Amino acid sequence: MKEHTIKLAILKALSRGDFISGEELGEQFGISRAAISKHIKGIQAWGVDIFRVQGKGYQLSNPLQLLDEAVLKSQLTCAVELIPIIDSTNQYLLDRVDELESGAVCLAEYQAKGRGRRGREWVSPFGSNLYMSMFWRLDAGMAAAMGLSLVVGVAIVEALEELGLNEVKLKWPNDLYYQDRKLAGILVEMSGQAGGAANLVIGMGMNLMMSEQTEGITQPWASLSEVANERSIDRNQLAITMINTLHKALSDYELYGMAGFVERWNRLDNFLGRPIKLIMGPREITGIARGINEQGAVILETNQGIEAFIGGEISLRSANN
Ligand code: ATP
Ligand code: BTN
Repeated sequence: MKEHTIKLAILKALSRGDFISGEELGEQFGISRAAISKHIKGIQAWGVDIFRVQGKGYQLSNPLQLLDEAVLKSQLTCAVELIPIIDSTNQYLLDRVDELESGAVCLAEYQAKGRGRRGREWVSPFGSNLYMSMFWRLDAGMAAAMGLSLVVGVAIVEALEELGLNEVKLKWPNDLYYQDRKLAGILVEMSGQAGGAANLVIGMGMNLMMSEQTEGITQPWASLSEVANERSIDRNQLAITMINTLHKALSDYELYGMAGFVERWNRLDNFLGRPIKLIMGPREITGIARGINEQGAVILETNQGIEAFIGGEISLRSANN
């Protein structure tokens, strides 16, 4: 068995919630207790909280519901791959754009090199969040990609609302927020053009039940479990709903453009009517957020009047921070 295979099998055994002794695990996989202990350390390095009680064995600190490729495949019509341990789901699809059909999806339980905008790290502990990428061939070409990335945010928040998960908002251009903290991030990357069409990979990382002890995140963050407030979240069903909603929103965008999405975005805009600043390299502009326009630009009301700003290098922040 490959190293990952044993770690994943140990996790599956532990995910039932009971204590399991090192001896029992060793017997199950035909390896020594010392080898099991080494695997447990490796699993902990993926960000899973496991503890050991003398005489009882190992147990997970928090329950784990693993993604199940068979369940995903049985309820989706698109190509879907679950690769539990991966560098980055976005990179995986970007490396394969020539073989993929539009709409194909890759999911993971852990990313060793999850990334955000501008090469920043996306912290991706095992099993507690959703890491998902979708390949989309956009016939309208590169110029339409900016609008598309906003449409993805709208679609995901609306999917959450359909599941009864309310109060999630959008931060231009690509973040989902809950109570002014980052819940999810979207990263749209391009792999050249085929004819006039643009090959896009749309990645989304959403925190579901991330441990408070998680390190390495440089801004306030939230988990969907807070939004769900006591209700449990079925990770497989959540992924299926997201994928279906995304397919529909992306097709609608291709047919009708941004027109229908501006109002939908503005209803969900976390900063609408609030003082914000736009950071563009050394330059900062402060004003009141007025939502987005049909080009997908962020609208700012300043002392000079109403201005629209667009471009990947802009960062939006509350003016009060
Ligand atoms: P902008 O792109 O507008 O500057 P941003 O500060 O959110 O916004 P991004 O590059 O979009 O920056 O995202 C990276 C940020 O997200 C970093 O601050 C990083 O610490 C944070 N981050 C990384 N992993 C997570 C996570 N799992 N949950 C929430 N935030 C995270
Ligand atoms: C951001 O807010 O900067 C965007 C974060 C995007 C993270 C997701 S997780 C799935 C996909 N794979 C990656 O490496 N990144 C995206």
